[in-house]
Amino acid sequence: MEAKQILLMKDVYKDFPQGDLTVNVLKHINLNVSEGDYVAITGPSGSGKTTLMNLMGCLDTVTSGKMIFDGEDVSTYTDNQLSDLRLKKIGFVFQTFELLGQKTALKNVCMPLSFADIPKKEQIERAEEALEKVGLSDRMDFRPNQLSGGQKQRVAIARAMILKPRILLADEPTGALDSASGAQVMDLFSKLNEEGTTIIMITHDRDVASRAKRRALMKDGILSSEDTALVPLHRSGEGDEHES
Ligand SMILES: Nc1ncnc2c1ncn2[C@@H]1O[C@H](COP(=O)(O)OP(=O)(O)OP(=O)(O)O)[C@@H](O)[C@H]1O
Ligand SMILES: [Mg+2]
Repeated sequence: MEAKQILLMKDVYKDFPQGDLTVNVLKHINLNVSEGDYVAITGPSGSGKTTLMNLMGCLDTVTSGKMIFDGEDVSTYTDNQLSDLRLKKIGFVFQTFELLGQKTALKNVCMPLSFADIPKKEQIERAEEALEKVGLSDRMDFRPNQLSGGQKQRVAIARAMILKPRILLADEPTGALDSASGAQVMDLFSKLNEEGTTIIMITHDRDVASRAKRRALMKDGILSSEDTALVPLHRSGEGDEHES
């Protein structure tokens, strides 16, 4: 049985207007991610990785091309529809954690549950369980500045996973961590993936990328992979002019 497709990008371009000019950041992106995948995207600084992640995470919209998320054509979605989809279906993890500094680990993990109108008591129960799962049962009442980098990232992962998203997107999740905490975070990602979570991760680090099941390379806004199921080859005669 073929795994269900979660994300499909077809001939996607992303341009940014820059004064009178237009910067073509992403070119001819084709990507196909199925349930249970664990994909690492590597590539040099400025090549377009975060821009791609913003599109995959429905934080930004494509200039042209098609993007299907969980069977829905999101290119036609309004901002409200996109933010609702992000809350319910996408978990985000960032290099700099993006936790709320005034709130405890527990309250940070409760945030998405609160946005989803889950009753208070259930919020606490679920957040406690999520923090236990990432090994932080003894740090629930700590604020971010009382946590180590690795602990902060594990809180962020608990928060990202709390509404059981269809996909977990991570932009340089180990970028701000020492190698031991980075390895812990990678172990957690592997565990989540073994449990069925679909993960797309951006990383500079080849060792980190080697933990994923599949790898793609971003270079000058063009995504390539030896794995043709991940980055489908064009049909003959299609897109041949986009070598630049
Ligand atoms: N809003 C924007 N307006 C104009 N140009 C942009 C915008 N966002 C990104 N860019 C340009 O797109 C290119 C790719 O940026 P992006 O942040 O995607 O790179 P990256 O691969 O994530 O790099 P890094 O590894 O340093 O994080 C850069 O040249 C950047 O200047
Ligand atoms: Mg980036």
